[in-house]
Amino acid sequence: MKRIAVLTTGGDAPGMNAAIRSVVRTATYHNVEVLGVFHGWWGLINGELKLLDRRAVSGIINQGGTMLKTARCQEFHTEEGKQRAFETVKKHAIDGMVVIGGNGSFAGAHEFFKRYHVPCIGVPASIDNDINGIDMTFGVDTAVNTALRAIDNIRDTSTSMERIFVIEVMGRNTGYIALTVALAGGCEEVIIPERTYDLEAICQDIAQGNARGKASWIIVVAEGAASAAEIARKITEKTSRETRHVVFGHIQRGGRPTACSRELALRLGWEAVNRLLAGEHDKAVGICGNKLVTVNFELAIQHKALDVEGMYNLIRILT
Ligand code: F6P
Repeated sequence: MKRIAVLTTGGDAPGMNAAIRSVVRTATYHNVEVLGVFHGWWGLINGELKLLDRRAVSGIINQGGTMLKTARCQEFHTEEGKQRAFETVKKHAIDGMVVIGGNGSFAGAHEFFKRYHVPCIGVPASIDNDINGIDMTFGVDTAVNTALRAIDNIRDTSTSMERIFVIEVMGRNTGYIALTVALAGGCEEVIIPERTYDLEAICQDIAQGNARGKASWIIVVAEGAASAAEIARKITEKTSRETRHVVFGHIQRGGRPTACSRELALRLGWEAVNRLLAGEHDKAVGICGNKLVTVNFELAIQHKALDVEGMYNLIRILT
């Protein structure tokens, strides 16, 4: 391979810049040119590319977001969109691609490979930690720590004013962030998409806790499971307790990547280029059980099962 392309697609994740840096410098080390594609698949469709040398990626290792920008591109899912993207690949003599993103990005890369046989290796980046077959995507550690710091702050006011707080965290299809911050934040309850919840039982718990003198509660809700505002409203209605809700939202997606997110991004960027140059394609790199592994895109985009009951019970027992 003489020239590869790198792009970031889907929701951004802290560490994407570190991954770009790693891809560019690893490829340069192997005397392979790198084209940065801007705005994800959109940039491939519309020919928004730029040659990146070693210097082009200096000073970004500690920055959140992505210097290449990113987007969710519906056009790429159409035949015409993919055809136009392939024209760009041919025009710029791109021999292979590193796709940094989550399961939507890998699904796109897999479809592109099936149709046009452009070799792609994926680097799993998502704050949702929802890539199947690997332990952790990069970015999630930063997001969890951001949410946890905010929960610690809320605990101060919740305890002082003896209130109930309902906190909404990200996770449209997965409760990974919610479960992790509820456990690490010592929260009383968690509501996630993978598990049905019983608001009556939660309110009874609050009432019983009250009777024992427990006055403050923190309930974490994953955005895909329920609305924090709605849960808070119902709790006030049923318990007459003063309840507030907070939506963390996109705050969780930004910020400087933690050491863990950077290390993973840098190692996986290196591994992705090496695998691509070794002739591998249509798969993602990742770490599983402390080992660098690859997972076929087809498997990586399947639902990732969490130990929901184990985590939930632990949260409830330790509360
Ligand atoms: O990147 C994953 C994620 O943050 C989900 O947790 C969330 O539901 C979604 O992206 C939000 O996407 P957008 O920023 O496009 O609304």
